[in-house]
Amino acid sequence: MVATALTAIAGASNLDELKEVRIEHVGDRSPIAKANQSLGQMEVAARAEFGKVVGKGRGLVASAFEARQSVLEAERDARVLIEERVDVSITAKRTPQGGLHPLTILTNEICDLFLGLGYRVAEGPELEAEWLNFDALNIPADHPARTMQDTFFIEPLESHLVLRTHTSPVQMRTMLEEKPPIYVICPGRTYRADELDATHTPVFSQVEGLVIDRGITMADLKGTLDYFARSIFGPDVKTRLRPSFFPFTEPSAEVDFFFNGRWVEWGGCGMVNPKVLRAAGIDPDEFSGFAFGMGLERTLMVRHGITDMHDIVEGDIRFTQNFGSGLR
Ligand code: FA5
Ligand code: MG
Repeated sequence: MVATALTAIAGASNLDELKEVRIEHVGDRSPIAKANQSLGQMEVAARAEFGKVVGKGRGLVASAFEARQSVLEAERDARVLIEERVDVSITAKRTPQGGLHPLTILTNEICDLFLGLGYRVAEGPELEAEWLNFDALNIPADHPARTMQDTFFIEPLESHLVLRTHTSPVQMRTMLEEKPPIYVICPGRTYRADELDATHTPVFSQVEGLVIDRGITMADLKGTLDYFARSIFGPDVKTRLRPSFFPFTEPSAEVDFFFNGRWVEWGGCGMVNPKVLRAAGIDPDEFSGFAFGMGLERTLMVRHGITDMHDIVEGDIRFTQNFGSGLR
C-alpha cells in the first residue's frame, strides 16, 4: 500500500492530479487509513506490532505527499509569474485630455491680471439694446460711427436690438448699476459685418476696461496700458497712444504696441466723455475715468506669430493643441 501510494504521489504532475492521489492514497478513505482504523479490532499484542508498521507507513506517505506538494506549488507560482506578466514597455492607448481654446486661455489670463489689480469682471449680453451699444455712448442715429462699425441689426427693426459691435455697452451697463469708484474688466464676443479674411472675422472678441474714480487722469490710463502690455507681451514691449476719435471718450486715442520689430494697433482708449458720465448719472465734476477696448484675436496673433485669422476661428484641434490645455 505504501509503495503504491508513493508511486502515485511521484507520478502526480500537477496540483489537480495530486489532489486525486490524496483522496485515493492518503485521505480517510485510503487503504492505509483503513488499515489504521482496523487496529482497534486487533489483539493487544498484535496491535502494538502492527501499529508500528502502519504508523511508519503513514508517516512516509504523508511526508512524501507534502514534499511533492511544495514542489508542484513552486512550479505553479513560477508559471503564473510568466503567464500573468505585464509588459510595461508596451505603448498605452492614450485618451486625449481636453483643452481650452487659446482665446479662452488669453481671456482668463487677462482677467487674472486685472483681478490682481483690484478690478472686477463684468459681463453683458451679446444681443444688446441699440441704445446701449450706440446712443448712450454718444453715438447718435445719424453718426457715421453707426455705419463705420458695420452692424448686424436684429429683425424686426422696431426691437432696436443689435449684435453688439463692441464691448463698450458693458461700460454703460456697469455705470448705471453701480456708483463709483468703478474698476471693471469686461471680456466678450462682439459682431460686425466684416468678411472673414486673414486679419478680420465677423465674430471676434474684445476686452474692455473701465475705471471711474476721483482724480483719474490720462497718466493712469497710460500706466495701466503699459502694465497690461508688459504682462501680455513681455517686459520689453513699448506702447504708444495716437490721437483718434471715439464719441464716448474725450480725448481719444488708438493704442499701439511695438513687438518683434513693428508697431501693431491694439485697440482704442480714452478718457470717458463727460456726456457719457452724465448720461449714467455720474457727476463729471466729481469723477473722471478712462476706458479701453482691445481685440483679443489680434493680441493672440501677434503674441504667437499667427498669420491667418482662420486658424483662430476654425477650431482645428491641431492648431489649438499647441497652446496646451490651459488647465491649471
Ligand atoms: C472699438 O470697438 C471701441 N469700442 C474701443 C474703445 C473702447 C475705445 C473704450 C475707447 C474706449 P475699434 O472699432 O477700433 O474700437 O475696435 C477695437 C479693436 O477690435 C481693434 O483694434 C481690433 O483689434 C479689434 N477688431 C475690430 N474689428 C475686428 C474684426 N472684424 N476682427 C477682429 N478684430 C477686430
Ligand atoms: Mg480701431
